[in-house]
Amino acid sequence: MKTQNGRNAAALRKAEEMNARDTLKVNEKGHLEIGGADCVDLAKKFGTPLYVFDEAYIRRMMGVYRDTLEREYGGNGLVLYASKAFSCEAMYRIADQENIGADVVSGGELYTALKAGFPASKIYMHGNNKLDYELEEAISAGVGCIVADAVTEIDKIERIAAEHGKVQNILLRINPGVEAHTHAYIQTAKTDSKFGFSVADGTAEEAAEYALSQAHVCLRGFHCHIGSQIFEKQSFVLAAEKCMAFAAEMKERHGFVTEELNLGGGFGIWYTDEDRKIPPEGYAEYLEALIGAVVRCADGKGLKRPFLLIEPGRSIVGEAGITLYTVGAVKNIPGVRKYVAVDGGMFDNPRYALYQAKYTPVLAARANETPTEIVSIAGKCCESGDLICTGANLPAAKPGDLLAVLSTGAYNYSMAMNYNRNLIPPCVLVKDGRAEYIVRPQSYEDLTRNDVIPARLSEKGADGGKD
Ligand code: LLP
Repeated sequence: MKTQNGRNAAALRKAEEMNARDTLKVNEKGHLEIGGADCVDLAKKFGTPLYVFDEAYIRRMMGVYRDTLEREYGGNGLVLYASKAFSCEAMYRIADQENIGADVVSGGELYTALKAGFPASKIYMHGNNKLDYELEEAISAGVGCIVADAVTEIDKIERIAAEHGKVQNILLRINPGVEAHTHAYIQTAKTDSKFGFSVADGTAEEAAEYALSQAHVCLRGFHCHIGSQIFEKQSFVLAAEKCMAFAAEMKERHGFVTEELNLGGGFGIWYTDEDRKIPPEGYAEYLEALIGAVVRCADGKGLKRPFLLIEPGRSIVGEAGITLYTVGAVKNIPGVRKYVAVDGGMFDNPRYALYQAKYTPVLAARANETPTEIVSIAGKCCESGDLICTGANLPAAKPGDLLAVLSTGAYNYSMAMNYNRNLIPPCVLVKDGRAEYIVRPQSYEDLTRNDVIPARLSEKGADGGKD
């Protein structure tokens, strides 16, 4: 055991060094580089704020999951990129080229995937309240599977599939009641959750029976997702075991054979040194642990080994991305704190406002300098809570400095908004030092594109112009 751990630790260290060299490094000018591109050049060429993604890292992460499934489970499964983490046409293209599937959670993500030419058969559709038109779009496009989350939704799928003369494959999202150690808002499989059918109170079984009685719905198995930004392997293993135990009950009581098991995503990433730094190859261990649990349970309970799916989002794209900002106002409140304000904020990264998320900022053109002070990075929105992070260790920042915030690839662009009518920054993808837009900059016209002034407001004065 010790030797094994020792070897793993050495392998992890080695891979970590490789990762550091491949994705982020500080070059001889003392500038931060991502994917071989100098951040100072990127900022000059594309302006700030700017989301930057390293293509090699994304592909490598997709490859690690895909190859582990192949190696450890005979390829009897599929990796789905959880595209809510970062959805744009280029991302679906990359996922397709890497031979993995995708999960979508809205008509908008589905539309984007299909527009990028992503094969519908490799799309799984999620959502706790899919709208009728979203189900219609999914079923008519021929998505591989819909993960049903309510009995009324099973009815809707049955009706729409019948109208299309199809039988729609579904999974049921079950809630195995596993508590994962993470922020409460991103913990989704406890008993009190808007997601899934609870195993404990029997609703999962009832929903399965109901689905089995439908003519245009084919229940293939079950799905669970226990939360996000989780490092404890044991939480995932426990959830897998509970799902397999449920599969065994379903076989025993209803003769139902679970053909597919989707164990969701949720693997944690590095944001600050409070988090584990797992090199891409290290994530294989999570999947190996899941596969181990599924195989043990299937063989132990005499069940078929199910087609296995996982849905990593954050771990594929989170550490692949950084955001570049320009420092503006620097405000020191003696004895209280120092604010370093940037040209972005909660409109490009609402994660501090939502979850008090932590980040590591770096002065990208002075990346070799030793940090000398602790500051809060503030955004430019009219909102006191508009911070990117607090407690950041930085050299003294001056107006005009380039600031990079690391690990912003997941759930930053995808949760961006136009609060205060700020423009959502563009995204560039870097490959071998070359950067290209994958999401172009918004313009002021984009902001007003859908605005309408009703005719009655076009006259001057609130009384319609009367004296
Ligand atoms: N599958 C399902 C059903 C999910 O609900 C999620 C994430 C994933 C997969 C992907 O999980 P990941 O591997 O990315 O952890 N906005 C939050 C995260 C919400 C995650 C929601 N579900 C944040 O910024 O941290």
